[in-house]
Amino acid sequence: MNSITTQIFADDVAGLRGAAEVLSAGGLVAFPTETVYGLGVDARNSDAVAGLYAAKGRPSFNPLIVHVASIEAAEEFVVFDDIARALAQAFWPGALTLVLPLRPDAGISPLVTAGLDTLAVRVPDHPVAYGLMEAFAGPIAAPSANPSGQISATKFAHVQSQMSGRIDGIVDGGDCGVGLESTIIASQPVPTLLRAGGLPAEALEAALGDKLALAGDTAAPSSPGQLASHYAPKGTVRLNATEVEVGETLLGFGAVDAAVNLSPSGDLVEAAANLFDALHQLNALGAEKIAVSPIPDHGLGRAINDRLRRAAAPRSGAAA
Ligand code: TXA
Ligand code: MG
Repeated sequence: MNSITTQIFADDVAGLRGAAEVLSAGGLVAFPTETVYGLGVDARNSDAVAGLYAAKGRPSFNPLIVHVASIEAAEEFVVFDDIARALAQAFWPGALTLVLPLRPDAGISPLVTAGLDTLAVRVPDHPVAYGLMEAFAGPIAAPSANPSGQISATKFAHVQSQMSGRIDGIVDGGDCGVGLESTIIASQPVPTLLRAGGLPAEALEAALGDKLALAGDTAAPSSPGQLASHYAPKGTVRLNATEVEVGETLLGFGAVDAAVNLSPSGDLVEAAANLFDALHQLNALGAEKIAVSPIPDHGLGRAINDRLRRAAAPRSGAAA
């Protein structure tokens, strides 16, 4: 791809106004959210969305999440049922994406939904994302701001090194606090977990008073982006390593002697926030064989293990 100039915007009023103007002109702008950096584009502009798929090298069957500033704004684009409304009221703004019936006349580009009759929407919990949405005053489609199949970006420097020359702008808004992509839920026909993420499933189940169904077990749509190989660092990845073999670099969790440690104190929230930066660090170290300490499979550990299983999967396909 030809290299283009990537403008850096400050996360102040003038910077966000400049970034919003680039979006209005059909450009691609990366911005921070509480989960990961997103690569934003006007969700109503098919030319711009096509440019986004090209910049990410993303398979075009993989639909995008639309970011809006409020439930009221989401209502312009999707139809809420009672369960979805209750979850939105409880967890928005926040790391929850709802897959809901699309309003066909809402003006969302069919490239955003990849032709599905549902749309994924969320209200991010981040002042810079909020400021950009206010300045732009429209729906922002945004996948994670990384080349397809590679490690998601949780710091400005990750976006800069992976996407400079491919996109029009980056808002420098510091580090992402949660560090894992949003949890994706379909409310119909029964509340179903499509992707474990930055909002623990247990919190959703407590609000619902019921267990979430798992994608594949119900007639709920599956999440087309859930391809096996994803988040891939350069080295191979071996999970649940209780010992380190010759030639391996340890990605640790808890009180172990590791090259990079997700959380020496064994804290899952800290580990989530550090996960993608740790994988970027292992790339920088030139780690060829990565062994990963066992990580408990509850709370945010479930989403961390999901991402690590994909990082460990054979690298035949690419994903978001
Ligand atoms: O935290 C996040 O969700 C970040 C930030 C930027 O908001 N975004 C993100 O986007 O992770 P992306 O594109 O990397 O992942 C979007 C996921 C994909 O797995 C996609 O298949 C799924 O959302 N998705 C989008 N629309 C869908 C739909 N209508 N039905 C089912 N899954 C959908
Ligand atoms: Mg992604």
